[in-house]
Amino acid sequence: MALELSIRDVDAGYGAVRALHGVSLNVSSGNTVALLGTNGNGKSTLMKCVMGIVRPTRGSVVLSLDNRQYDLTRLSTEEIVNLGVAMVPEGRRLFPKLTVEENLLLGAFRPLARGEIAKNSAFCYEIFPVLAERRRQLAGSMSGGQQQMLAIARALMSAPKLLLVDEPSVGLAPILVSHTITKIKELKERYGLTVLMAEQNFHQAIRIADRGYIIVHGEIVFEGGVKALEQNELVRSYYLGTG
Ligand SMILES: Nc1ncnc2c1ncn2[C@@H]1O[C@H](COP(=O)(O)OP(=O)(O)O)[C@@H](O)[C@H]1O
Ligand SMILES: [Mg+2]
Repeated sequence: MALELSIRDVDAGYGAVRALHGVSLNVSSGNTVALLGTNGNGKSTLMKCVMGIVRPTRGSVVLSLDNRQYDLTRLSTEEIVNLGVAMVPEGRRLFPKLTVEENLLLGAFRPLARGEIAKNSAFCYEIFPVLAERRRQLAGSMSGGQQQMLAIARALMSAPKLLLVDEPSVGLAPILVSHTITKIKELKERYGLTVLMAEQNFHQAIRIADRGYIIVHGEIVFEGGVKALEQNELVRSYYLGTG
């Protein structure tokens, strides 16, 4: 299925706080796009604009699916999820007192997904065997890495075509960061997902990204393929310490 997310000239914010200024970004079928930036630069705000949680004050957010176009700024979050978009929120936002299985079920609220719970949870347990072993364990009692797997799996319960992942590496030990990022790559490759991932961990993000954008103070200051990103002066000085 042909899919394209096209964000054009978006301004957005919170009351008097302008968090995004004229942001444009594109994600096309089968690609992994990294949205790179340090804390407070607008990554989560942009993700929330795609999900209909924050409404842009200017600009457009359009999802094209097989030549049909949907203006996401006019749809509710539920309608956006119904189109096949899911988000793994920053900080995972699991229900710690519910089990792994119960957390997964909460990811299946999309009407189409409700009829596919058995199939989608089998799929999640296949990708993340550790969740199958721990299906009756309380989410809050698992390690950070396991919780991140669960947060991703919960998003997969709505069988999305476009997966937004907001800072999967946050709060994880380096080895788990690497493991999590590799899982996202595996998902994309095996199941044809399209991925938009916000990250501060430049090295890990570009390991699996096809393209990347750098956001600073709510503005896109650079976009390009992975090679161009690695060679970019800004990246070298900010992220690689070689500028
Ligand atoms: N709910 C909110 N209310 C007011 N300001 C917010 C809110 N959420 C984020 N901001 C502000 O918007 C800007 C961008 O934040 P955010 O999108 O969370 O950045 P990032 O995800 O890159 O860390 C920051 O200045 C932040 O303080
Ligand atoms: Mg954020």
